Amino acid sequence: MDYLRIQGPTKLSGTVTISGAKNAALPLITLALLAHNPLKVTNMPEVADIKTLLKLLQNLGASCSLENHVLNVDTSTVSHTMANYDIVKTMRASILVLGPLLARFGHCEVSLPGGCAIGQRPIDLHLKALEQMGAQITIHAGYVHAVAPEGLKGAHIIFDKITVTGTANIVMAAALAHGKTVLVNCAKEPEVVQLCEILRDSGIDINGIGTPELTIIGTGGKTIEMVDFEVIPDRIEAGTYLCAGAITNSTITLERVRPDHLDAVTAKLEQMGCRVECGENTMTIHPATELKHVDIITQEYPAFPTDMQAQFLALATIAKGASTIEERLFENRFMHVSELQRLGAEIKLSGHTATVIGPCELAGADVMATDLRASSALVLAAMAAEGTTNVHRIYHLDRGYEDLEGKLRALGAKIERLKE
Ligand code: EPZ
Repeated sequence: MDYLRIQGPTKLSGTVTISGAKNAALPLITLALLAHNPLKVTNMPEVADIKTLLKLLQNLGASCSLENHVLNVDTSTVSHTMANYDIVKTMRASILVLGPLLARFGHCEVSLPGGCAIGQRPIDLHLKALEQMGAQITIHAGYVHAVAPEGLKGAHIIFDKITVTGTANIVMAAALAHGKTVLVNCAKEPEVVQLCEILRDSGIDINGIGTPELTIIGTGGKTIEMVDFEVIPDRIEAGTYLCAGAITNSTITLERVRPDHLDAVTAKLEQMGCRVECGENTMTIHPATELKHVDIITQEYPAFPTDMQAQFLALATIAKGASTIEERLFENRFMHVSELQRLGAEIKLSGHTATVIGPCELAGADVMATDLRASSALVLAAMAAEGTTNVHRIYHLDRGYEDLEGKLRALGAKIERLKE
C-alpha cells in the first residue's frame, strides 16, 4: 500500500488547477444510462471512484473510455442490469445506477451499498421514492431487486431528509417516467444543479433547478438524445487547497474554479482572518496575519459543507482560541480527530461537536487515513507540523483527489508517495 511522506513546516506558492468535481461526475456517468446516443464528457476527474463506476458500467455492457480527462461513453450496448457487490461495496455512490437502470429497463438488481466509515449511509429515501413512482422493491440476499414492468409513473414526492444522491437518483428516474413528478425538499448542491441543467439542455421539461422543489415531465420510457458537456470544477478539492494556503501561511491561486460554489467556505476563511480574492474562475487565498478561531456547523448547500469539516478541523488546530465544529449530517465523521491528536492537536469531542483549543504545536508522526476527506485533513496538518509525517492508507485519498501530491509538490510542498 502507498503512503505519503510529508516534511513540515512548509510554505507554498504559485497556482494550482482544480479538477472536475467527483461528486458531479458520478451521477453524470450514470445519467448516460438514459441516453441512446454516445456521449462525450470533458473535465472528468481521473480519480479512483470514477474508474470504479466506469468499471461497473462496463460490467453492465456499456462501452466507456476515459483518456486525458475526456470520457466517451455509449450505453446503447447495456445488456443486463445487475450491479454486483464486489464493485458496489467499494463505492456506495454506485447506488446512482438504481434510478436510471430501473427507469430504462423496468427492472434491476443493485447490491446494497453497506455502510461506510463515516456512517450507516442508508438508502431508504431512494427506495421509498421509487416505490411512490410505482416500483416494487424487495431486498434479498444483500441486493435491492426493483421492478416496474409498466415503467415508472410520475409522483408527488417529499423527501424526509435532504439527500444529494437520493435527489439525483430520483431526478434521473423521473426523466424517463410517465407523466409529471414533483420533488419537494430536494438537494440544491451544485452537482445536482448540473445534472438537472444537462437534462434540461437535452430536452427534458424540468423546472425549479437550484431550488428545493423540482418538477419533471418524463418521456414515458423513451431514452434521451443527450448533449455533450463539461463537468463543473470540484468545490471540495478547491476548498481543500484554500485551506492548504491558510494552514501554511501562504498565498496561492486556484484556477478553473467556481468561486460562487464556495461562498460558505470563503466566509469562514475570512472570519478566521484570511482574505480570499475571487476572479471569474480563479481564487487567491491571502493568509491571516494571526489566524482566529472559528465556529462551524455543517449543513446542506449553500451552508457549510460536511465535506470540508475535516479540513477546517485541521486548520483550526493552528488558529488562536477555541474553535467549535458541529457535524450535523453524518454520525461518525470525526475519525480524523484521533489522528490529528497524534500530531499534537488539542481537540475535545462531545457528541457531534469537536472543540479545538489552538494554536497547537503540531509535530510530525505516523497517522492513518480513515476516509476521503479525513485523509486530506491529515495532509494539511502535516504541512504545518514540525518534522516528518507519514500518512498511511492513502487509497482513501486517491478516491477523490487527483494527483494531490503532484499538485502540492508543484506548489512547493515537500511531499512524496512511497510504498509500505
Ligand atoms: C453525498 O453523499 C456526497 N457523495 C458526500 O460526499 C457528501 O458528504 C454528502 O452527499 C452530503 O453532502 C456523493 O455525492 C457521491 P446524502 P450522499 O444522501 O448522497 C441521510 C465525499 O467526501 N440519508 O445527502 O450519500 C444520510 O445518512 C462524500 O465526497 C438517509 O437517512 O449523502 C445522511 O445523514 C462523502 N436516507 C444525510 O441523509 C437516505 O436514503 C445526507 O446524506 C439517504 C440519505
